[in-house]
Amino acid sequence: MTGRRKGGTGRQLTTRVRTARGRSASSTRWLQRQLNDPYVAEAARQGLRSRAAFKLIELDDRFHFLGPGKRVVDLGAAPGGWTQIAVARVQGKKEGRVVAIDRLAMDPIAGAIVLELDFLDPSAPERIREALDGPADIVLSDMAAQASGHAPTDHLRIMALCEAALDFAEEVLTPGGTFLAKVLQGGTEKELLQRMKARFRTVKHAKPPSSRAASAESYVIAMGFKGGRGDAATEPPQDAPEGHGEERS
Ligand SMILES: C[S@@+](CC[C@H](N)C(=O)[O-])C[C@H]1O[C@@H](n2cnc3c(N)ncnc32)[C@H](O)[C@@H]1O
Repeated sequence: MTGRRKGGTGRQLTTRVRTARGRSASSTRWLQRQLNDPYVAEAARQGLRSRAAFKLIELDDRFHFLGPGKRVVDLGAAPGGWTQIAVARVQGKKEGRVVAIDRLAMDPIAGAIVLELDFLDPSAPERIREALDGPADIVLSDMAAQASGHAPTDHLRIMALCEAALDFAEEVLTPGGTFLAKVLQGGTEKELLQRMKARFRTVKHAKPPSSRAASAESYVIAMGFKGGRGDAATEPPQDAPEGHGEERS
């Protein structure tokens, strides 16, 4: 599974969707975009549950955090594209584990433990820890609240989800572990970024090629969890000027 577009004749076939009674203009635009999106077609061809799967493929092909025997928490997992990729990439001689959670119901995926759970519910961390039954090597968060259409509200919501995911990652990650979360372009808020820089060896931002150019999403990837207690989390890093160790793409 590479997610790369195949070279072809260069001729683009475009499916046009007519407006229909009862269908809004935005639904018509969405349908047209889906029908003409090569990632949607490729996901269907490969039996992947979402085009989002290609974002994880591309991020992992670049940063190499998944691997046989790894233990993964996948937050905001429905419909399950990232979970499918995580399960495929942790398989090996040593048994990996994938715990996937979403507040929406999700069909089971062989090789993953799926929990229907609101991550912001106070009971969520304990329930995930129980399912994980040990430390995690990787905490992924593709969580996104439904877009409100008001950019500052959407930004606050997504940062709140990212912060909650980071709190949890700091509890369950093994030293050397990886935290990957969806943020909005413009990056991660300063305080959160400083916290990540204090607790991880490297912090980078990346927008994978399959993430739609028109979408404001991007991803923050923090690697090399330093472990231990998080006292340094509130302190700015001593050795790094602003932006150090951070890469955008
Ligand atoms: C972009 S989708 C994830 C797509 C998924 N990574 C895939 O590959 O199929 C974002 C998901 O985040 C979930 N989500 C948002 N807020 C959540 C919360 N508080 N707890 C659990 N899931 C949440 C949504 O229900 C939605 O399914």
